[in-house]
Amino acid sequence: MEVRLKTQILPAGEAAVAAAARVLAEGGLVAFPTETVYGLGADAANPAAVARIYQAKGRPAFNPLIAHVGDIAAARQIARFDAAATALAEAFWPGPLTLVLPKTPSCAVADLATAGLETIAIRLPAHPVARDILRAFGGPVVAPSANISGHVSPTTAAHVQSDLTGRIDLIVDGGPVAVGVESTIVGCFDEPMLLRPGGVPRAEIERVLGRALTQAPTDAESDSGQPLAPGMLASHYAPRAKVRLNAQRLEPGEALLAFGLGAISGIDAGSIVMNLSERGDLDEAAANLFGHLRALDSKDVGTIAVMPIPNDGLGEAINDRLRRAAAGRE
Ligand code: TXA
Ligand code: MG
Repeated sequence: MEVRLKTQILPAGEAAVAAAARVLAEGGLVAFPTETVYGLGADAANPAAVARIYQAKGRPAFNPLIAHVGDIAAARQIARFDAAATALAEAFWPGPLTLVLPKTPSCAVADLATAGLETIAIRLPAHPVARDILRAFGGPVVAPSANISGHVSPTTAAHVQSDLTGRIDLIVDGGPVAVGVESTIVGCFDEPMLLRPGGVPRAEIERVLGRALTQAPTDAESDSGQPLAPGMLASHYAPRAKVRLNAQRLEPGEALLAFGLGAISGIDAGSIVMNLSERGDLDEAAANLFGHLRALDSKDVGTIAVMPIPNDGLGEAINDRLRRAAAGRE
């Protein structure tokens, strides 16, 4: 991890969009806001640029990337859409949904970005800054979350800065993101499969499909032995502190990640408490999740105890990320 670049930070705006397009065209790395989390973008068709992403993040190269496009026509150039994929794209794009689809023969995305798979993950983000950058650059941009591999995903430019300064060329600061958890990933195989819960709740997707999503088994492998959702490593979102889930009381020395106004015993005047949403709103909780985890982690607590969080709506994605955070230190 010997990268030492001068990392420029620009507020979102015309100059930043032009600079981002230029850096991408030159094979550099740009962090930019999407509605889910900040992404670290590179020209998807440039293998050297894609390799730089893996290097900057310390990410294993067998973990493929999502190609971000500016419109559906661009998506159709790189992937084949069946009826389910078309219905989902029409319902949720632009927005926090990623589709895993068969690559087209003419797909220009570097093999390194898809880890040699025959499928490609595609997303059409809704954030205006992301869309402006995609339009200005004019080609697909691969973008994982803009954090060091294994860290909590960034929801502000400051999070990106603290992880990636000196490793990337440009950070476009568009303020805090709206959704706060990564996109939902659906594999459009024979049976549409939920590969990662995320910013679009499962129930909304099932309503459009008119059927239940099949569930990717944990550490799922397809018949070919390829991981179905290769990035779903058990400890993917790990803070430094231990994470203890479904806490019914706060133990001495623990910090509390609260949800709602429900009471919990063991809190005293000295307790460190952050609430994901006092009014018990799961959308607000998702938007606060990664920032609160980073903030509690920076206070050097040994353990973060987390109150129970309902599993409906964005709760499924929140609980998924929290389970991974907890698995990291068990
Ligand atoms: O919201 C998001 O999706 C953010 C923003 C920046 O767009 N991006 C993001 O990327 O979360 P990343 O790299 O952190 O997660 C991408 C996930 C990984 O779990 C990866 O394994 C999976 O997508 N993936 C990519 N290509 C795949 C494929 N062909 N088949 C199955 N899973 C794939
Ligand atoms: Mg990530």
